[in-house]
Amino acid sequence: MIVMTDIAKKIIAEHRSSYEVAVDMTVGNGNDTLFLAKVASTVYGFDIQREALAATEKRLKDNHVTNCQLFETGHEHFDTRVTDDVDLAVYNLGYLPGGDKSIITQAQTTLESLARLLPKLKKNALVILVVYQGHDEKEKRALEAYVKTLPVPSYDVFFFSSLNTTDAPSIIGLIKK
Ligand SMILES: C[S@@+](CC[C@H](N)C(=O)[O-])C[C@H]1O[C@@H](n2cnc3c(N)ncnc32)[C@H](O)[C@@H]1O
Repeated sequence: MIVMTDIAKKIIAEHRSSYEVAVDMTVGNGNDTLFLAKVASTVYGFDIQREALAATEKRLKDNHVTNCQLFETGHEHFDTRVTDDVDLAVYNLGYLPGGDKSIITQAQTTLESLARLLPKLKKNALVILVVYQGHDEKEKRALEAYVKTLPVPSYDVFFFSSLNTTDAPSIIGLIKK
């Protein structure tokens, strides 16, 4: 089966060879944070669960990563912690794998975060949202509706999805022109 998180990483690596400021909007177990730490000079990470932040801190420490700052704060408040403009942002939505499945990203807060992020995007910034079908259907529909309203030529908006399974997540991507 297609591994969408691998495709997301390929899109990020293909778009630019390096980034200055990256934000991991949902650090979870830190897989994406670790990847971002390799392609960006500075990484900020957000999660609402201490368990997720602890797992990510450990992963970063085990890999001798020193360019990340983590915050136990919802991504809808990310701009209270990040004053830099942003080159790359990743939202891997849903619940913490191996954690409490009732704690899940919500359409309203994800949209609020995205609305706060857009004015902070630098030219040629990339935003990747990995959004699951099924349990995240409401969030997926809300995000799709929102990104369709972003104007050409200020944004390129793309969508990547499996057509023969609903188990794989989809990727929504934005490039700030
Ligand atoms: C699918 S996991 C992220 C996976 C992670 N990127 C990784 O590489 O392991 C989604 C995460 O979003 C977090 N989350 C839920 N609501 C959030 C919010 N408002 N702000 C930030 N993180 C949130 C959950 O706690 C969970 O850890």
